[in-house]
Parts: sequence; C-alpha cells; structure tokens
Amino acid sequence: MRLEVPNRHGNLTDVVIGMPTAEDYTKATYQNYNFYLGATIGRYAGRISKGGFHLNNQFISITNHEGVQLHGGVNSIDKILWDVEDQGGGAHPFVIFSIEDKAGSNGYPGNIKLKAKYELTENAIKITYTAKTDAPTVLNVTNHVYFNLKGRGSTEGNELYINANHVLQVDERLVPTGKLIDVHHTPLDYTTEIPLHFEGHYGLDTPFVLEAEKLKASLYNAESGIQMKVFTNQPALVVFTPQDFSELKVRNHETFNRFPAICFECQNFPDAPNHPHFPSSVLLPGETYRNEIAYQFDVK
Ligand code: GAL
Repeated sequence: MRLEVPNRHGNLTDVVIGMPTAEDYTKATYQNYNFYLGATIGRYAGRISKGGFHLNNQFISITNHEGVQLHGGVNSIDKILWDVEDQGGGAHPFVIFSIEDKAGSNGYPGNIKLKAKYELTENAIKITYTAKTDAPTVLNVTNHVYFNLKGRGSTEGNELYINANHVLQVDERLVPTGKLIDVHHTPLDYTTEIPLHFEGHYGLDTPFVLEAEKLKASLYNAESGIQMKVFTNQPALVVFTPQDFSELKVRNHETFNRFPAICFECQNFPDAPNHPHFPSSVLLPGETYRNEIAYQFDVK
C-alpha cells in the first residue's frame, strides 16, 4: 500500500501507488479495474495463449478470455486473503505471507503452497516467493507494484535503465510470438540510462529479456533525488506504464498526471508454457520454485 523512502530534501516520499485503506482492496470498485496495485500475481504472471498448454503430452485447459489468460485468471491469488505465517523485527524486519491454492484452481494442476516473504534491509525491500506443488504444474509469480519516485506527477522524463538487449515480440493481444527483437536503435533501447519517453506509443507494456549482470534496471527522479535499482533472479522484466488509473481513486489520485507510475514485474517469460524454447516454467513435486526480487533505494 505504501513505501516511504528518504528523499534528497531530508523527508519521506511514498514511492508506490496504493489504495487509501486496506478495505478498499476488497471492494468491487477496486477489483473491477484490474490494476493489481502492489498485488502478488499468478499462478502465471502475464499472458498464456491457446486456452492452455501441454504438460507431459496432455493439454491442460485453463480459464481464459478469447483464448488468453492474464495474471492467472479471474479471482486468482491476487484476490484472496493471505495468512501471516511468520514475522520478525530487528535490523531486517520481515513478514511471510502464505496461501494454499487447490488443484484445478483456474485450471492449473497441483495443489500449491506459496509463500511471499517481504523483508526490509538498510535501503531495500526484498520480496522472495517460494512454492511447492504435489503434481507437475507451471508457475510464474511476481509482484505488480507501481512506482512513482516523486510520489506525484508523472514518470515521464525519469532516467530509466534496463539491462536488456532484447524484448519479446508480441502480437496485438500482447501475447509473445516466440521471436526476440533487438532493442538497439529502437525506442525500447534503455541499455544506457535515458529519459523515459512515450513518443509514438501509448506507454510501455513490454517483456524485456534480462541480461546476466546483477543490476537489471534502475529509475531516477531528479526532483526527489531518489534512485531505485531492481535486482532479480528472473529472466524477464515486464515493464508496464499505464496512461492513468482511470476513475480509480488511488491514494493522492489528484496529484498524479499522465503516465503516473511504472511497474517492474520480475518474472519468467509470458506464455513460456506454449514456447518450448523459452525458459521452462514447469514445477515438479520435490522442487522449490523461487523468485527473488529486490528494490533498492538511494539518493543521488
Ligand atoms: C500488466 C499487463 C498489462 C495490464 C496490467 C494490469 O502486467 O501487461 O497489459 O493488464 O498488467 O492492468
């Protein structure tokens, strides 16, 4: 809901978009918009096409809209109340949330147990997802938090770096075609830090293919002086910049302008279950799924 970090003026900026109260997230007015503010999304973050996928030579049909499922389908794990499994204080305070999602939920096989650990370090928030299954399944979970490093206005012009030489080519439904596109000499070339720009398109909604180096992305707002660095063990970063939050009354909604926020969704490739040459998203009994994300803050 909130993440307050020190800015260059010596006070705090709330750098994420949230609803004013926790209760707001349970209301139809919020849920009907599907913005997934700060939500854990899954079982499969992003889009799966063809109404399902093959697993062990069997077609698994999943809930879908015209053949495409987004963020795990309707009434998925972002819409249920998680349990608090553990928490701790001290120098690195943390809380671990957990859920069990039953086999058949939105069509997915396997009863899964999923944990989300949120941990604060000196200057980062780390989110670690781990999961187990009792039958072969696919899994791709991430966090859908929206950032604005000034706490108001627009993200346009923020200095953006993305450590990706390629993006996934997507069709008009935003489903990957299976091809990669080289970003160099295109508007998606953020391989050196440049101002976030929206010429010629209505915002980013793009799966970037991450390079191996540790730093995956960074964002800097010159007014607040806040810089955020993104680290993850995942192969892709879906960057999403909505034009606005429509009529949804997010906290301080009156202070935001066009392109109010940016999501850095650290995850596997969208639609990987339908593309054998994409990194595998299969999770087998006995294995542990693990997605590590860190958003680190400094003042420049
Ligand atoms: C993004 C997705 C967008 C949009 C958004 C939620 O992850 O790529 O197309 O659905 O979530 O509003």
